[in-house]
Amino acid sequence: MKTAVVTGGGSGIGQAVANRLRSDGYHVATLDLAESDETFAHTADVTDRAAVDTALNAVRDQLGPVSILVNAAGIERFKRFTDLTFEDFQHVVDVNLNGVFHCVQAVLPDMIDAGWGRIVNISSSSAQSGQPYMSAYVAAKSAVNGLTKSLALEYGPMGITVNAVPPGFIDTPMLRKSEERGRLGGTVEEHIARTPVRRVGRPEDIAAACAFLISEDAGYITGQILGVNGGRNT
Ligand SMILES: NC(=O)c1ccc[n+]([C@@H]2O[C@H](COP(=O)([O-])OP(=O)(O)OC[C@H]3O[C@@H](n4cnc5c(N)ncnc54)[C@H](O)[C@@H]3O)[C@@H](O)[C@H]2O)c1
Repeated sequence: MKTAVVTGGGSGIGQAVANRLRSDGYHVATLDLAESDETFAHTADVTDRAAVDTALNAVRDQLGPVSILVNAAGIERFKRFTDLTFEDFQHVVDVNLNGVFHCVQAVLPDMIDAGWGRIVNISSSSAQSGQPYMSAYVAAKSAVNGLTKSLALEYGPMGITVNAVPPGFIDTPMLRKSEERGRLGGTVEEHIARTPVRRVGRPEDIAAACAFLISEDAGYITGQILGVNGGRNT
């Protein structure tokens, strides 16, 4: 049985991905800043390489080498660019981009040894459209898309595919927090009226895309950015 690691697996999209992969028959371990009682849940900050390495070594001891990685840990910041401190900017980049760097670099040796691997990076539809007051987040997520493409070219010859899924408007604690704070540019209901498929996305919609990209059927798909956004971005 293959072993998958899902970062940000304690909430929202990451949690749905972990549940889906469990039901698809993979061993699943999660890495999250938040503590969890779930089996194989490891508390680690993805910006802390030593913590990532420790958690992944524990996963290897429990479940064997890692052949699947889904990077879903992420944070957003909502500030006008002129009010953004460099520390704010760096923190957002640290979690959303550098966290992906650490986790990918830490698991790649297992995948290279196995001659098989799947990496899916959860970026954001805002990297396609831009988003006011979210410049740090959009910059970091755009970089994740670029990193995805380069890694796909570098590791394709070793049997490893690397793709990104940029979600748009998915009903998670992150989205609801933005709504509560008036940062969504309208209510969820108003957004639904402007969404071509006329509903909010569910974390399970993202999990389904990840499950496909991880499957054997997707072995010829790499370096792609697969938007899952109800048609809000095309
Ligand atoms: N919800 C949406 O509409 C939407 C849209 C675009 C992109 N995304 C992206 O999808 C991913 C999941 O978002 P979500 O909506 O499920 O949010 P969420 O807040 O519900 O979950 C994010 C998880 O990441 C964890 N996390 C945050 N910082 C971490 C760190 N430094 N180390 C380890 N774990 C950390 C949190 O503890 C949390 O469990 C994020 O990367 C987010 O940017 C979400």
